[in-house]
Amino acid sequence: MKFVKILFLFLSLSLTAQQGGMWIPSLLEGMNEQEMQSLGSKLTAQDIYDVNNSSLKDAIAHFGGGCTSEVISPKGLLLTNHHCGFGQIQSHSSLENDYLKDGFWAMSFEEELPNPGLYAEFIVRIEDVTDKVLDGVIDAMTETEKQSKIDGNSNAIQKATQKEEWQDTRIKAFYKGNQYFLFVTERYEDVRLVGAPPSSIGKFGSDTDNWVWPRHTGDFSIFRIYADKDNRPAKYSEDNVPFTPKHFLPVSLDGIEEGDFTMVFGFPGSTDEYLPAVAVEQITQKVNPSNIAIREAALKVMDEYMKSDDKIRIQYASKQARIANYWKKWIGENQGIEKSNAIANKRTLEKEFQQKLKEKELESSYGSLLTDFDKLYAEFEPVNVKRSNFLEVFLRNNELMGAMFRLYQMEQAAGRGEETFKRAQESVQGRMKSAFKDYNVNVDKGIFKAIMPMYTDKVDASIYDKTNFSSEEKTAQILEGNSKEVIKKINKDAAYKYAKPFIEEFYTKLEPEFQRINTEINAVQKKYMKALMEVVPDQRYFPDANSTLRVTYGKVKGYKPKDGMYYKPVTYLDGVMEKYVPGDYEFDVPQKLQDLYKAKDYGQYADANGKLPICFLGTNHTTGGNSGSPAIDANGNLIGLNFDRVWEGTMSDYNYDPEICRNIMVDLRYVLFIIDKYAGANRLIEEMHLVHPKK
Ligand code: ARG
Ligand code: GLU
Repeated sequence: MKFVKILFLFLSLSLTAQQGGMWIPSLLEGMNEQEMQSLGSKLTAQDIYDVNNSSLKDAIAHFGGGCTSEVISPKGLLLTNHHCGFGQIQSHSSLENDYLKDGFWAMSFEEELPNPGLYAEFIVRIEDVTDKVLDGVIDAMTETEKQSKIDGNSNAIQKATQKEEWQDTRIKAFYKGNQYFLFVTERYEDVRLVGAPPSSIGKFGSDTDNWVWPRHTGDFSIFRIYADKDNRPAKYSEDNVPFTPKHFLPVSLDGIEEGDFTMVFGFPGSTDEYLPAVAVEQITQKVNPSNIAIREAALKVMDEYMKSDDKIRIQYASKQARIANYWKKWIGENQGIEKSNAIANKRTLEKEFQQKLKEKELESSYGSLLTDFDKLYAEFEPVNVKRSNFLEVFLRNNELMGAMFRLYQMEQAAGRGEETFKRAQESVQGRMKSAFKDYNVNVDKGIFKAIMPMYTDKVDASIYDKTNFSSEEKTAQILEGNSKEVIKKINKDAAYKYAKPFIEEFYTKLEPEFQRINTEINAVQKKYMKALMEVVPDQRYFPDANSTLRVTYGKVKGYKPKDGMYYKPVTYLDGVMEKYVPGDYEFDVPQKLQDLYKAKDYGQYADANGKLPICFLGTNHTTGGNSGSPAIDANGNLIGLNFDRVWEGTMSDYNYDPEICRNIMVDLRYVLFIIDKYAGANRLIEEMHLVHPKK
């Protein structure tokens, strides 16, 4: 009996130990702390998050709002992914100085390149403000009334929050609006580019290897935060100085082996782990397939032009990578959902939920939630699919239509007065001007022809020959003047005339319908979340990702992608050479790296087996936004840089399965090796604090 009990305890511990989750850093004490320690961590909850002393969280910064980065030196050196710094690396590139192709290394502080618009944001502290946010919100209110009460309360809380004048506050909903947290933040706006490997290292394997294991990508780039003389956030200025962080991560030279504890600390963007089956079905069977088809058609056009023209290759590199990324992710997601039987499994759980409601006599409160979902999602489907396709066609894949969309918004702004119009006008002028640097009308017209028929049967590509918006000068002329003049001019343009009815339909029909039903769905989802926690309390519930700072942890571990196959969790430089295809745009290897490989000149960065490690896998539960997040060892040292997930596991945004979901990290020793041996940027290595925790 005793034996059975111990065995059971052991089993349940090892089961939960692999269940994933993205946890709030200020709430790790208790369950998470214990679980991390059972996985080998030596860290306390306070080592990770502390309001009064410096802690790991002080080294983690939201990078431009979409990625994560970490401070790795006392002089504000900031590490993130190559694909996160891609836009900046590209914008400093030209045919003469092709940093995308050749890499970039600032050999002194003076050579570090400013990036207008880029920021790094730290979390100063996190507070639970649920009671105050929900004060006075009652069931009898409509959803709109509830929201306006919540907004009012949130504003009042933010006003009353104690903070320094250079700090900001933000309130975010957790557990579908059942809980609210306040974040005090500090945003640094002078972030300069310090180093980037060539794309043949930083993007090695490109789209073929994206989302795929085994992986051999050195997906990193390096920036530096600058601050004013008092170490406070400041706009770019020559007088700014390198930022002194409250904490920076020491870098481990000892590497990892299978079974080692890992923790990933960053800003995951969004997940939806508590959706009903009917929602996952709609996403994977209706929304994803149509969006995949649109992107596939756009990519085909883009790829052909990029292969045949170097200028276009540079112009479209960033846009192509962005479009290809989720195109491939959705495909993997669909396959994973299908293979893991996620929809059927969710249905089974829903039956059990319904059964438990009966047992616990909670049917009167929660009994109709699942049928409410069914009704709402049925009504939602056509609107959701069409709106999603609209966004793909008009905003994400075709540039001319995207521009017309912004012009439409500018025209609407005129209705709110000349001042509002002026602001909109300036913003459109700025965006259009910078867009022309990377615009090729043939590419865009080809994409238009390929994707517009997937949205409507009213396709007219002749607008490309008639419009003035494919010329930078004419565009500038049209946008000059007061609202009356500008609006008159744009309404005469062929492209605008073509696009306007679609955009009008979006604003007057699609979007309001979408919002109306979505608000109702969210209300049911909020109740469902609460019900799940109440009715099935023995499950663990972590809040869905919402672009706030989270901790996820696990182990270095391989996986079985298919029957009869096992993937080891570590790759080596030998694998880069195995994949090498001379001259190939995805799998070329720089000569210098080949030479270092031949000479086995790995310095202090080789593994115990004499090989140079490149990437490794972990069971950390991550999502988009975790790119650039540090992988941290049991002692708080940096061992890796998160940049991807395995294809078979990209469904983890809806259905985390510990058997198959893995995150992919670059081994920090490869990063150091590239900086040191490949680029000779020793000054950066010297700034860092290299440690040997295992010795
Ligand atoms: N899949 C990774 C992420 O979601 C990397 C994307 C960048 N790489 C690329 N080939 N597009 O961001
Ligand atoms: N590459 C992703 C990002 O940019 C991370 C991979 C993922 O989605 O897990 O955040």
